[in-house]
This record gives sequence, structure tokens and C-alpha cells, in this order.
Amino acid sequence: MKTILLATLSANGNYAQSSPENPPKKEALGDFAKHAQAAGNFIVGRRTFEAMAASGGAGGGPFSELDIVVVSKNVDALPGATIARSPQEALNYLQHKGHQTAVVAAGADLHNAFLGQGLVDELIFNVAPVLEGKGLHLMIDTDNYTFKDVQLLDTKPLGSGVIQLHYAVSR
Ligand SMILES: NC(=O)c1ccc[n+]([C@@H]2O[C@H](COP(=O)([O-])OP(=O)(O)OC[C@H]3O[C@@H](n4cnc5c(N)ncnc54)[C@H](OP(=O)(O)O)[C@@H]3O)[C@@H](O)[C@H]2O)c1
Repeated sequence: MKTILLATLSANGNYAQSSPENPPKKEALGDFAKHAQAAGNFIVGRRTFEAMAASGGAGGGPFSELDIVVVSKNVDALPGATIARSPQEALNYLQHKGHQTAVVAAGADLHNAFLGQGLVDELIFNVAPVLEGKGLHLMIDTDNYTFKDVQLLDTKPLGSGVIQLHYAVSR
């Protein structure tokens, strides 16, 4: 099974955050929905899932037919989702269900856990035309300086100034 990590970045390279004043770009949201629907699933951190649920966007509309896996050490059940205790357990669940691709959808903590554990085959970064101050970052190691080359597969504009970068990660 292939694992794709999908994230929005700010133009200055932060892991983009959203708020009522700075909502996600509709092109980035549409791209997430497209990839999740194509895969039939998405994996999400507990905090991002709860934020989606609070805004009415967790399991309904375009996501109603999807296998949604929430990774959490502390929560036992959430409506419309399957709970996994670790990134690997989330992948095992989707593989067991017969999925060919897993989409890892957010947030920062969970994305960094997948990257740190070397569980990602492809990265899709949608770079939004916004600058941020002190913020969040995607990291392959949250304690030490390390690096890893990745292979650029594709770039394309999504509209409204959002640019998509698509990379392969060797494992
Ligand atoms: N740039 C983007 O594409 C994008 C998309 C959506 C959201 N965001 C932003 O991301 C931020 C939210 O992300 P976040 O980092 O606060 O939360 P998150 O990653 O959505 O959720 C964190 C929670 O997930 C669980 N978790 C994470 N890693 C785990 C692991 N290795 N094993 C088991 N459980 C694990 C834990 O849940 P428990 O505490 O229940 O154990 C943890 O508290 C917001 O600022 C939001 O705006 C960005």
C-alpha cells in the first residue's frame, strides 16, 4: 500500500495553519477531497478531526463514503471514524481493508510522526499564497538536524495562486 502525505504549506515554508481570519484555500481543500475520494480514505490526527467535526466537515458531504482513521492514544471512540493507536496501526487497518493508497491528511503532530517513522512514500504540498509568522513545521526529525533528498514528480498550479509540489520519498 502506498502512503501519501498531503499538506498545505505557506509561501514562506511553514506548515500552514488555519483560523477564521485565515481559512484554508478552497483549491487546497478541493485537492484534499479529490485525493481522499480517489483513495477511499484519510488518516487524521485527533485534534484536526475534532476541529473538522466542530466545523461540520468531518464525516459528511464528500467524505461520507470514506474510511476515516483518527490516530489517538487517549480517545477510544469518535463518531464516523475508526481509532488507531499509532501511525503504523492506522496503515495496518487500511491495508487490511484492501486499500491501495492511504492519504495522511493532518495535522502537524501526526504528519511529523509519519515522517519521523519513515512511513511516507509520496508528499503532496499545496503552497498557499500567504506568509506566516512563528508557526508550525514539517520535520523528519523533531530533535536533530537531519536531511533526506526527495524526488520531484510534478508541479502544477491549482488556481488562486496555490501551487502543488509532488515528491516521491525513497524508503
Ligand atoms: N497545513 C495543513 O495541511 C493543515 C491541515 C489541517 C490542519 N492544520 C493545522 O494543524 C494544526 C493541528 O494539528 P496538531 O498538531 O495540533 O494536531 P493533530 O496532529 O491533528 O492531532 C494531534 C493528536 O493526534 C494524536 N497523535 C499524533 N501523533 C500520534 C502518534 N504518533 N501516536 C498516537 N497518537 C498520535 C494525539 O491524539 P491524543 O491526544 O488523542 O492521543 C495528538 O494529540 C492546526 O494549527 C491546524 O490549523 C494544517
